[in-house]
Amino acid sequence: MLDDLNTLQTQGLAELETAANADALEAWRIAYIGPKGALKALMPRMKDVPREQKAAVGARLNEVKTALEAAFERKKAGFASAAAHEEPAVDLTEPGIVETAHLGRRHIITRVRAELVEVFARMGFDVAQGPELEDDEHNFVKLNIPAGHPARDPIDNFYVDDPNTTGTPRMLRSQTSTVQIRTMERVIGEGGTPPIKIVSPGRVYRPDTVDATHSFMFHQIEGLYIDRGVTMSDLKTTLLQFARAYFGHDAEIRLRPSFFPFTEPSAEFDMKIALKPGEEPKWVELGGCGMVDPNVLKACGIDPETWTGFAFGFGIERIAMGKYAIPDIRMLFENDVRFLERV
Ligand code: DAH
Repeated sequence: MLDDLNTLQTQGLAELETAANADALEAWRIAYIGPKGALKALMPRMKDVPREQKAAVGARLNEVKTALEAAFERKKAGFASAAAHEEPAVDLTEPGIVETAHLGRRHIITRVRAELVEVFARMGFDVAQGPELEDDEHNFVKLNIPAGHPARDPIDNFYVDDPNTTGTPRMLRSQTSTVQIRTMERVIGEGGTPPIKIVSPGRVYRPDTVDATHSFMFHQIEGLYIDRGVTMSDLKTTLLQFARAYFGHDAEIRLRPSFFPFTEPSAEFDMKIALKPGEEPKWVELGGCGMVDPNVLKACGIDPETWTGFAFGFGIERIAMGKYAIPDIRMLFENDVRFLERV
């Protein structure tokens, strides 16, 4: 009996070592320490053990039982902790907490500006740039707005220098038409000639009282196309193409006769858009346009007998408000996060 108990212990422990998974472990339990296992099977033999050895054999039996059971528990615990390590500590399938993933994005004006440039780029317009701190030469004189013209009134402009100084007083530009002049000057200055085909988006400044449709700073996009034989119908076609590309194929445009010193003839450019969500579309003035005045071409060293061109200038805020149904221009500059998240 003692030999059998020793064998059972050695063999049991050795076999337990080889149990590689939970199933093998359970099979071992059944075979060795289960109710029908090898250990239980030895118990009836206690009655055959001579009386004087009973106590020693009984103690040994208990020892083997305890050893096998303890070894089993240890092995089981080992499996459990190994299994626990296999589970990912973090459930990667769990949805994230939104607050930690606050993605920013570009401001709506920046986006609209890029969209407009993109549409005009597809029609062959390059992007040109000019300074925001200008001088009256580029903001007025070369645009055929001579001294004494009401548009030059200091009340309506942000002069940096005294407007009555001799020379060319500096000012914050009041229109992106300045970039027409700068671009033509540059091309001619570099010994080039038209064709010139550019758009120029940027900030402009006017001392207007702020309300739902006015701001002392806003954005325009200027366009200029100079070539041989450019006509008013090229202008209208370009504007219609633009309107359809940007606002959709059913976009409607309208040109109304108007006056600008730097174009002749001149027109206001209107589009039918809904400025408020759900509202009936109305005619909205987006800006001005026309055929570049010969005086402007001459001022930049371009011969108006050879070259003609059209120009336009639109308010980017107006376009953004029309496209994205923004009812008040102030929303674009207040930077209220609730608004910025919506557009
Ligand atoms: N510069 C004009 C304005 O700010 C807009 C404009 C009108 C631009 C006619 C042009 C143009 O290029 O041809 O009101």
